[in-house]
Amino acid sequence: MNNVPQHIGVIMDGNRRWAKAHGLSILAGHRKVVDDVLEPLIEHAAKRGVKYLTFWAWSTENWKRDRREVQGIMRLFKKNLRKRGNRLQEKGIRVRIIGDIATFDPELQKLLCELVEKTKHNTVITVVFALNYGGRDEIIRAMNKAISYQLLASLEHRRSGSAIRQGIREDKDIVAEDWRLTTDDFVNLLDTSGIPDPDLIVRTGGEERLSGFLLWQSEYSEFYFPKWFMPEFTPERLDESMEEYAKRKRRYGG
Ligand code: FPP
Repeated sequence: MNNVPQHIGVIMDGNRRWAKAHGLSILAGHRKVVDDVLEPLIEHAAKRGVKYLTFWAWSTENWKRDRREVQGIMRLFKKNLRKRGNRLQEKGIRVRIIGDIATFDPELQKLLCELVEKTKHNTVITVVFALNYGGRDEIIRAMNKAISYQLLASLEHRRSGSAIRQGIREDKDIVAEDWRLTTDDFVNLLDTSGIPDPDLIVRTGGEERLSGFLLWQSEYSEFYFPKWFMPEFTPERLDESMEEYAKRKRRYGG
């Protein structure tokens, strides 16, 4: 296949509608995705030469869902990290997490960090799970990191006695006069630091919006909004998505 996207982002939508349409419990839709959909997609994407595949698994807004659904999904995450973590490692798949996982329970955080650490040298494909992820939240956290680093740098200059020479105004307290945040600085403070922007974003389930998915990174992404639900996402449908992408002309404003 020509013109393979280096990075595909997937907004996984329609799990509950799929479950309802099949007369199943809400959790059955999520379970179907974890049990039957994700691994074949990852392996197929790797075979096609995709280098990064991002799945939005939990948004900063998803906490508003019914308590039982939230608990069920958290159990699903934990069970599958234990069950499938080693397999991902054996297959040479690298796992990264984006989003603020500090809100998850400590056991889940530990499992996630261990999987990221264990797979960090793998090169077959990088699978990025967006967990407790929101685009605005990511941008605000990056801004706060920038502010903290600036404060630390300013303090450091002061401590070394070079505050005035470095252009830091003593009177206004730790503010560097000539400090400007650049695009490159900012990109490195985002959760996706080191990951190329998504070339293609697929949102399953028929809704045609991003809902904050990779808000900064999607500037020049191509979008594909199929009607079918996430539990119906097969490797053949990944090919269809990539074929659709291959037809697009990307001009980046030029
Ligand atoms: C989207 O469909 C589903 C979610 C936002 C929740 C959870 C995702 C999973 C369980 C996938 C597995 C991920 C990992 C990392 C193991 P929806 O519930 O919004 O469906 P609807 O649009 O029909 O309401």
